[in-house]
Amino acid sequence: MDFTLNTFSGLVENALKAISYPEVAPKLFDPIRYTLSSGGKRIRPALTLAVYAALAKKDPSEVINQALAVELFHNFTLLHDDVMDRADIRRGRPTVHRKWNDNVAILSGDAMLTLASQTLAKGAGKHLDDLYKCFNATAMEVYEGQQLDMEFEDRNDVAVDEYLFMIGLKTSVLLGCACRLGAIMADADSETADALYRYGYSLGMAFQLRDDWLDTFGDPTVFGKEIGGDILNHKKTWLLITALEAEPEELPAILAEDLEPRETIAQVKALYERHKLGDRCQDLATKYSAQAKLELDKIDMDVEARLFFGTLADSASSRKH
Ligand code: IPE
Ligand code: IPE
Ligand code: MG
Ligand code: MG
Ligand code: MG
Repeated sequence: MDFTLNTFSGLVENALKAISYPEVAPKLFDPIRYTLSSGGKRIRPALTLAVYAALAKKDPSEVINQALAVELFHNFTLLHDDVMDRADIRRGRPTVHRKWNDNVAILSGDAMLTLASQTLAKGAGKHLDDLYKCFNATAMEVYEGQQLDMEFEDRNDVAVDEYLFMIGLKTSVLLGCACRLGAIMADADSETADALYRYGYSLGMAFQLRDDWLDTFGDPTVFGKEIGGDILNHKKTWLLITALEAEPEELPAILAEDLEPRETIAQVKALYERHKLGDRCQDLATKYSAQAKLELDKIDMDVEARLFFGTLADSASSRKH
């Protein structure tokens, strides 16, 4: 077994291409094809496949449907998230609500959620109940996280702990769940499944901290998303929360001023740089990657698998896109 992200994401790409869609209202599925063919990193389904391969020591294709379910769910959240965040570019292309409209993004997102749920059941056998328990609990947590993320836009007193709790819900639980689904399919004992869940969760924390860092400091042509959207939306990222603590007068004044969006972003970024917040945010992301790797010590697996999961944990906090 070749334990590389390319191997796993290749399996996912092929399976995504092979999905067949109902024919009654074909336009419902155009945005889904558009989204699924736009080249995401496929980290979440790769986790499901890799965990299964590492624990069961069998062909990861045996759990391709469970992996696909995670990726379909993730893409459903992106369609709705881009409406909520008023984001115009994803994976270097116009978002669905920009290319079509909000209604299309909502309804195609709904359809993708149902496709995810249907796909999860395929080949699940005796594990059906356990898979759905994890999947449904995780889905509800993601919605709770997205709700808090929205509410925080209108608050200036969000604490770092509240932020960490919120990103745990909107992002980390899905990476934890992706690992657990693979563990369930591999008949893993509960200690192993729990350790892998915590690995995925910590990796997810690093992943979202890095995402928030990239939203200010990334290269838009590599990141595939517009830079500065979090600032314009007053997203309470670690960066903004910590900057508000450092500059409780100046930062709200910048945000309240009626400036060109580019100018608002430049001024807030300069303030972050003045306080070296980019580096400190990055340090925290790196800490979560290290925490993820500690979980691996509790799991019995081959050296190739261990190296794969360790490298993936590091890349969560060092990725460029
Ligand atoms: C984007 O996830 C949403 C976040 C949790 C930051 P990814 O960065 O995994 O998006 P794709 O699927 O690779 O485009
Ligand atoms: C991601 O948060 C959370 C979900 C999509 C559930 P972001 O809003 O930061 O994700 P991007 O940056 O749009 O990918
Ligand atoms: Mg969002
Ligand atoms: Mg967003
Ligand atoms: Mg983001």
